[in-house]
Amino acid sequence: MAKETRIISVANRKGGVGKSIVTILLAVALARHKKKRVLILDCDNQGSIAEMYQNEIDLMGEEYEPAIEVEEITARKVQTFLKRFGQDYDLIFVDIPRMTDNKKDNATVMLLYNCDSILMPVIGSEVDVLSSLDFLAIIEEAAEFKEEVGEKLTYYGFINRRNLRKTNDLAEEAMRKQGLKMFKNSLADLKIYTLPSFFTSVMETAEGLRRFEGFYKEFCRKFKL
Ligand SMILES: Nc1ncnc2c1ncn2[C@@H]1O[C@H](COP(=O)(O)OP(=O)(O)OP(=O)(O)O)[C@@H](O)[C@H]1O
Ligand SMILES: [Mg+2]
Repeated sequence: MAKETRIISVANRKGGVGKSIVTILLAVALARHKKKRVLILDCDNQGSIAEMYQNEIDLMGEEYEPAIEVEEITARKVQTFLKRFGQDYDLIFVDIPRMTDNKKDNATVMLLYNCDSILMPVIGSEVDVLSSLDFLAIIEEAAEFKEEVGEKLTYYGFINRRNLRKTNDLAEEAMRKQGLKMFKNSLADLKIYTLPSFFTSVMETAEGLRRFEGFYKEFCRKFKL
């Protein structure tokens, strides 16, 4: 029998914290370096990942094959999709949209209940931290529920764009205090991350390897991949 498919989300309720970019970086790295069959489910109805994916495929031409697959899908269809096609992949990353609603956004929150792993990008402005705290409460609730039904939800946070703001250190401290386990490695604000490829991993260049490997390895270790 095939090993169980892992369902992962790089998630936060806040927009623009790097959910989609980091999803692509990790998904492609796992496909290229660990030979995993990887799918990204793009649940953001703005379809940014799906659009980037199609653009690069058009650019590369038919000779080349992307390292991963991307499927655009509405949040409410995800559970059925996973039941039907989940076993075709080793890893499925679920890219969630920002939660515009102040209250819990049900369709998006539901997506988290499908996951076994959540990685939360944190950026250090005051607003971002408050919103990250709200989101942490949502994850904790999901983790508690999953435990009740005998499943596990592993979650960690990390600081994205570390060098951009001094307040990132404060944010890290604030999240830790609230009980969120934080990665030792963070990601710097770098040009190499702004337009990740679906064909080659960021670690296939010397700079990418130097900058991303620590974070990637910690990701694999902490989430047992
Ligand atoms: N570490 C980084 N270095 C450089 N640029 C980054 C980094 N992280 C994110 N960005 C940039 O910040 C912007 C927002 O990133 P991204 O789209 O991944 O965020 P998001 O959380 O998915 O946002 P949304 O909620 O709108 O979907 C992008 O332009 C991306 O290139
Ligand atoms: Mg996004």
